[in-house]
Amino acid sequence: MLVKIEEIRKAFEKDISSVKDRASLEELRVKYLGRKGQISSAFTLMPQVPAEQRKSFGQGLNILKNRIEQQYQALKASFEETSRDTGRIDLSLPGRKGFVGRKHPLVAVADEIKDIFRGFGFTVEDGPEIETDFYNFEALNIPKTHPARDMQDTLYITEDVVLRTHTSPVQIRVMQRQKPPIRMIAPGRVYRRDTPDASHSPFFHQVEGLAVGKDVTFADLKGIIQAFAHRMFGKDINVRFRPSFFPFTEPSAEYDFSCVFCRGEGCRVCKHTGWMEISGAGMVHPNVFRAVGIDPEEYTGYAFGMGIDRIAMLKYGIDDIRLFFENDLRFLTQF
Ligand code: DAH
Repeated sequence: MLVKIEEIRKAFEKDISSVKDRASLEELRVKYLGRKGQISSAFTLMPQVPAEQRKSFGQGLNILKNRIEQQYQALKASFEETSRDTGRIDLSLPGRKGFVGRKHPLVAVADEIKDIFRGFGFTVEDGPEIETDFYNFEALNIPKTHPARDMQDTLYITEDVVLRTHTSPVQIRVMQRQKPPIRMIAPGRVYRRDTPDASHSPFFHQVEGLAVGKDVTFADLKGIIQAFAHRMFGKDINVRFRPSFFPFTEPSAEYDFSCVFCRGEGCRVCKHTGWMEISGAGMVHPNVFRAVGIDPEEYTGYAFGMGIDRIAMLKYGIDDIRLFFENDLRFLTQF
């Protein structure tokens, strides 16, 4: 009876050597391991086996069964491998789309802002994100006692070194190295000690603007901001200035654009005022000129700030600043 086991083994070795594809592999499985296959039917012969051989017959058959099972699984796995790795084409697989990268929405908006100001004759300047107290505060006429220096707002590295809280220090750096006339913007990242929520983030992006010359006036400032609003959001967007205070400008103002959603009619987003706050601006304070060695009797200048994240939120109708920094592709691929 043990001869029977040997016969099955030989037949299997022969059959498996001629398996070429998944279909013949399946035939092989049915023939040997199926419910009515060779192994099962051999087990049904048990009662006919002489009692003293029964034990070794059963063991031998089980060993063969396991071996066939192993060889079958190994071959099956190798088929799956080849169909994935080499040219074997599985027409049932869904197609693979190429992934095309694109600009982050904040980069796209910053590029647009730069293009607009370059068109007005401004240069684009850069400065360090790690600043000294002098550039971030002192030279901008922000005294030691000013609340903006509070630990609540500023991220200090040492007592004298901070993560810049605004892009205004770049004005100082540019005025130190360049004589008027100056017309520059400085886009970049800034840092504040804020807990993230829909409208706050511990880092965000600003553009600083500065123009210095012999007869630069507040009217020039209003003109440039108005022209920017038209280019960025459309001709029907108006600008208004409200008196305000910044240590580095005198007089100072905050400026608003008409609401880009209702175009000034009044809606939920602008709380029915028709206006949206953008940022601050003003005429460069004489103390700032003195800090960089420019004669305030000879030159005047205007400066303004602008939030890139805020402009991007308005442009794309985004109501949560955190979306910009989560790098969720479901968000990013919409732009
Ligand atoms: N630096 C100010 C801020 O971070 C923004 C700002 C206001 C910039 C008035 C200016 C300015 O140049 O004149 O909030």
